[in-house]
Amino acid sequence: MLEYNINLTEKRILITGAAGFIGANMAMRLIKDAPGAHIVGIDNMNDYYDPTLKEFRLSQIEQLAGNWTFIKGDIANRVLLDELFTKYNFDIVINLAAQAGVRYSITNPDAYIQSNLIGFYNILEACRHSYDNGNKGVEHLVYASSSSVYGNNKKVPYSTDDKVDNPISLYAATKKSNELLAHAYAKLYNLPSTGLRFFTVYGPAGRPDMAYFGFTNKLRKGETIEIFNYGNCKRDFTFVDDIVEGISRIMRHAPERKQGEDGLPLAPHAVYNIGNSQPENLLDFVDILQQELLRAGVLPQNYDFEVHKQLVPMQAGDVPITYADTSALERDFGFRPHTPVREGLRKFAEWYKKFYM
Ligand SMILES: NC(=O)c1ccc[n+]([C@@H]2O[C@H](COP(=O)([O-])OP(=O)(O)OC[C@H]3O[C@@H](n4cnc5c(N)ncnc54)[C@H](O)[C@@H]3O)[C@@H](O)[C@H]2O)c1
Repeated sequence: MLEYNINLTEKRILITGAAGFIGANMAMRLIKDAPGAHIVGIDNMNDYYDPTLKEFRLSQIEQLAGNWTFIKGDIANRVLLDELFTKYNFDIVINLAAQAGVRYSITNPDAYIQSNLIGFYNILEACRHSYDNGNKGVEHLVYASSSSVYGNNKKVPYSTDDKVDNPISLYAATKKSNELLAHAYAKLYNLPSTGLRFFTVYGPAGRPDMAYFGFTNKLRKGETIEIFNYGNCKRDFTFVDDIVEGISRIMRHAPERKQGEDGLPLAPHAVYNIGNSQPENLLDFVDILQQELLRAGVLPQNYDFEVHKQLVPMQAGDVPITYADTSALERDFGFRPHTPVREGLRKFAEWYKKFYM
């Protein structure tokens, strides 16, 4: 196990993408866990999916009445970011803002270049300049990568030691680029950073562009759901609380700054998988979702699922399986995601019923 080298008391923590699914859950967790810390959230509140959900998540954070400041703004805006870093002197940065989604990147590449590359570059620059004039600056940058970097990796489970040089979507390419850029900044400027490859995250107030949420919307409207690759897909579905638990442990250990034999810094940079490590067949997952939607009363007991289900071929950019090797996470942080899919989907279905019906 690694020792924590960051104490969150009185820290100034920036969460980007704070109105997003993972960001909002992270903000709530930190407000509870680190009451002395000042949490600053930034989000541009874009309408890639219904912004009402983002407003809802922000209202949940506000209800906790913590030491919390929200700024509506874009991380692609360098001037704004620099102002925020100067004003708040962040100790820890958790970068979750990004244009997510594999399929959308095929038709809307601009959004990915803007948020995932320019935005991420701005974050790195702001972190690097936090050390100017001998300031202590950012102690740890934690940023979201994605299981999509594994592309069509044949070997399972996916390990962070595997070669990931063949992205099959622009989204994946931007996430892999983030890891490369962060490594270079770690080496050049001794900026400690950790990249986290999340595996298909789901839960209450999640993202409507993801299959479980989209399926639920469609089934409710009596529409037909399409199950890709004829159902022969396996996904490591990871409940959002497990992701938040992983981040909250990892953020407390910044990769150590060390000098190499050449007198230059060795890059203080690490990458971890955070995934359930128990891939679920898509058809089984849909089956459990159906049962939980009935249980929660989202759909009537006599709902005929078979007439609302269509098996269709594989989509471009998709992969047949995602499966996380979490041994490094277990070794270094004594943790692995463990929430069973039924438990997570039950929480989603119950939330959905309350929110929409
Ligand atoms: N949910 C998953 O299954 C999953 C899997 C792998 C990786 N990730 C990554 O985790 C992170 C969080 O994902 P999420 O599921 O919470 O997505 P999300 O879309 O709910 O959250 C991202 C938030 O970032 C904001 N945002 C986007 N571009 C921005 C910009 N330029 N400036 C400021 N705000 C901006 C959006 O408005 C959104 O609220 C993302 O980086 C995503 O790529 C998510």
